[in-house]
Amino acid sequence: MNISYSLNSDYSLINMLKPITKRCAIKIYISFLIILLISLSLCLRLLFNHSEDLNLQKESKPSNRTLGFDRIFVVHLDRRTDRRERLNEIASYHGLEFDYISAITKDDEQILRKYGSADMSPSQKACYLSHYFIYKQIIDRGYNSVLILEDDADFELNITAAMADIHRDLPASWEMLYVGHCFEGVGGQVGKGSQVHRLHKSVFPMCTHAYAVSHSGARKLINLIDPLIPRGTVDYSIAVIIKEGKIASYSVHPQLIVQWGDPSDIPNSQALTFHLLNSTLHFLGYNRT
Ligand SMILES: *[C@@H]1O[C@H](CO)[C@@H](O)[C@H](O)[C@H]1NC(C)=O
Ligand SMILES: *[C@@H]1O[C@H](CO)[C@@H](O)[C@H](O)[C@H]1NC(C)=O
Ligand SMILES: *[C@@H]1O[C@H](CO)[C@@H](O)[C@H](O)[C@H]1NC(C)=O
Repeated sequence: MNISYSLNSDYSLINMLKPITKRCAIKIYISFLIILLISLSLCLRLLFNHSEDLNLQKESKPSNRTLGFDRIFVVHLDRRTDRRERLNEIASYHGLEFDYISAITKDDEQILRKYGSADMSPSQKACYLSHYFIYKQIIDRGYNSVLILEDDADFELNITAAMADIHRDLPASWEMLYVGHCFEGVGGQVGKGSQVHRLHKSVFPMCTHAYAVSHSGARKLINLIDPLIPRGTVDYSIAVIIKEGKIASYSVHPQLIVQWGDPSDIPNSQALTFHLLNSTLHFLGYNRT
């Protein structure tokens, strides 16, 4: 009796416990599910963020579409729609991507007055500031390298192949690269340069119609060519710091991008034409007037 009782009571105890363990198991199961769901959603979010990062990187990855730089910025006077059309034709022929950046003009009097007293015409000041603000954008947007063009540009017909060779020779420590220039002497050659267009050390490159700036180059330019204390026009001010050895600069000879040579938007500066071997604009049917 005693035994059976105790057995019985044990049995009833087990019976009493059973629903509790069951409930417990369900609770554990549910919490496990919740934890699983939370970690799964965390994982997904991480993955998603990661792919967003990858997309961002892809957006500004150097490629042939940007001639091996993160971006190609075109300093553009909004009213010159003729120039924009011409550049769009060049872009579609070469498969290039341009970012048009509105230039500061001589009519932006407020900005010009702020940067004031320098002995330059309003157009020259506007040009100076347009380029200077681009260096700030390069830093703000975190680009490693940007090719800066003015909107009056003509390209060598095989520029993509030629630039691929130039990038092979370009030292990792480069800060500026003149793809086009005016009155530039031929400095010492850099790299193997098997083709016609070769990389050289810069001497005193003038003009700003086609030059690339690296991230570190942009930082230096912001400090070294302060528009509050200019040494002259923007191209001259940069050429001076290159000559002083304060920034690592290279030039391509013969140049791959020239000014097409419209009457210049900057009065007092002669319209300069330096010739390409094979002009893209000629190829596309344009003729200089
Ligand atoms: C970029 O252009 C060069 C020269 O034309 C070519 O050799 C290379 O394969 C191109 N790269 C890509 C990714 O298309
Ligand atoms: C580009 O074209 C020029 C002129 O036709 C030629 O001399 C040069 O070898 C070419 N460069 C490349 C990399 O194909
Ligand atoms: C470039 O010009 C040279 C000489 O004018 C010509 O022989 C060559 O075929 C041209 N190259 C291209 C890619 O049109």
